[in-house]
Amino acid sequence: MASAAQRVQVLAESGVSHVPPSYVQPPEHRPLAGCRPTFSGVPLVDLRCSGDDVRWAIGEACRNWGVFQVIGHGVPSELLVSMRQVGAAFFSLPTEERNKFACDPKVPASEGYGSRMLASENDGVLDWRDYFDHHTLPESRRKPDRWPTYPPNYRKVVVEYSDQMKLLAQRLLHLMSESLGLPSSYIEDAVGEAYQNITISYYPPCPQPDLVLGLQAHSDMGAVTLLIQDDVGGLEALKGEEWINVQPTSDAIVVILGDQTEVMTNGVYKSAVHRAIVNSRQARLSVATFYDPSKQKRISAAPMLVSESSPIRYRDVLYGDYVSAWYGKGPDGKRNIDALRINQ
Ligand code: OGA
Ligand code: NI
Repeated sequence: MASAAQRVQVLAESGVSHVPPSYVQPPEHRPLAGCRPTFSGVPLVDLRCSGDDVRWAIGEACRNWGVFQVIGHGVPSELLVSMRQVGAAFFSLPTEERNKFACDPKVPASEGYGSRMLASENDGVLDWRDYFDHHTLPESRRKPDRWPTYPPNYRKVVVEYSDQMKLLAQRLLHLMSESLGLPSSYIEDAVGEAYQNITISYYPPCPQPDLVLGLQAHSDMGAVTLLIQDDVGGLEALKGEEWINVQPTSDAIVVILGDQTEVMTNGVYKSAVHRAIVNSRQARLSVATFYDPSKQKRISAAPMLVSESSPIRYRDVLYGDYVSAWYGKGPDGKRNIDALRINQ
């Protein structure tokens, strides 16, 4: 029988003073490689501002960063707190309890408790992270009876959170479409019936944080990701050559554009390359909600954004094929979307 999957949390709690070689990043991928002090953060957009101001700010953020934070989003602060609390409670359960929810390591993206994203054993350097992935939308995929029952409000909170994140994702996609002069529902319609997954990531403290990554550099594959984090910090976004810290901000939700939004906007809006670093003092928790097209949806550039002066940049792609290609090779620190680039 295959040995049980190695949980990073179990490794961290065993008190190792050195990380095993399988987690050690090559020097050029380590957190401090090429590090320069920086004081700027990613853009912060208050959704309570006037419509024109919000559309302008979102347009600038999507064009120049592909990642920004929103406040004034209307999602109750108590729900954000509860979502982080139920996540933290799961990771505080004894290992045997957590393992009852282990995902199927042979099936890519299967629901449940896991550590490595790819099915293959040879997927390169391991991330210093465990996670719990929930399939939440369409509702036919939502099976709360497979989710933890501790704390008692776990399932109720995840369902409520899923519904709120759907509404916020739709609102943001409307604003993004409008900010490009497209009909309000353009991107939402192009996504079709959205697939939503909610992933709680748990990054244990690490004895040698400078040698590892919590989550290696990648861009998210779908349309848009909404992320909340605790106050520990560790999410970084690549801007030019520099890794910029995404500052934990009370009640803020981080918005990360995915590759399909870049394809649809013909590269006017960028998907953001991002990663998570870890530290030796404190565990960190984040909750990422992915809002993605269905696998059968073909994604292509909006005709309005293609012209003689802005020729088409990416081949159109069946979203399911895009995802399978990724699970075949992994993030590899590169942008997946480069595989679709049309040479000009
Ligand atoms: C992700 C991700 C970052 C974080 O799950 O895709 O980028 O801070 N997470 O956990
Ligand atoms: Ni991501």
